[in-house]
Amino acid sequence: MNKKILITGAAKNVGAYLAEKLCEIGYHVILHYNLSSYEAREIFTKCRKKGYQLDVIQGDFSTHQYINKFLDQLREKTQNLDAFIHNVGDFYVGSFLNTPYEVWNKLIQTNLTASFILLKELVPFLLDQKGHIICMGFAGLNGNRADTYASAYSLTKQALLFMVKSFAKEVLSKDLKVNMISPGYLEKSVVMPKSELPMKRVGKFEDIFQTVKFLLNQNYITGQNIEVAGGVRL
Ligand SMILES: NC(=O)c1ccc[n+]([C@@H]2O[C@H](COP(=O)([O-])OP(=O)(O)OC[C@H]3O[C@@H](n4cnc5c(N)ncnc54)[C@H](OP(=O)(O)O)[C@@H]3O)[C@@H](O)[C@H]2O)c1
Repeated sequence: MNKKILITGAAKNVGAYLAEKLCEIGYHVILHYNLSSYEAREIFTKCRKKGYQLDVIQGDFSTHQYINKFLDQLREKTQNLDAFIHNVGDFYVGSFLNTPYEVWNKLIQTNLTASFILLKELVPFLLDQKGHIICMGFAGLNGNRADTYASAYSLTKQALLFMVKSFAKEVLSKDLKVNMISPGYLEKSVVMPKSELPMKRVGKFEDIFQTVKFLLNQNYITGQNIEVAGGVRL
């Protein structure tokens, strides 16, 4: 197949699962990590042993300068991508009144500003292939509801959805598809609800993988947010 796909934040959790599964079905995966160098190295070794095509690139998205460094490293590896899965997300539990200014800034930078820079810079990588961009959201965004549980995080994901839709519209004529997948509570999640989950189970990484695969194999869905959340915040 030899299609190239970049996945950010892919040394752990759902990102790591997607990286390995996409390798397994023939994608050449470029795995981004920031601090999890040990985990990234482990995936690299495991995938290379199996004969999969996988490269790793380190990148800190906390400043524009560092993001540019990451993009320089990416350009050294490739000028073209078939898909970009933007999985990086910073999380903070707290209402607005309980969110320190520094946390607010960090969330805006990681979840929004970095997304803006990466989407803008990576569109040219995807044009020839009429590729796909998939961003990770958070269940409940379609309802645009108030959130006092993780207010700043929720705001960044709400704004990210607006960004996804706007980018999707801007690149429509170029056949580039831009969508969002929104999980509820995933396996290995740092937080779990106190009440029972609507479908009595958390989301499996495999649920997200199946949706990614579906989106990558279609050419007429764009600007959409697909909730893979088993009814959480429906
Ligand atoms: N897990 C859930 O239940 C859940 C629910 C709803 C939505 N989501 C969304 O789904 C996505 C994946 O969730 P997850 O729980 O698997 O995420 P995660 O493990 O908490 O974060 C993914 C990766 O983001 C990277 N990252 C964080 N800050 C960064 C920065 N400043 N620069 C570069 N990389 C940075 C980290 O890389 P390093 O480890 O290499 O530093 C981390 O491994 C996120 O966007 C999240 O908001 C998850």
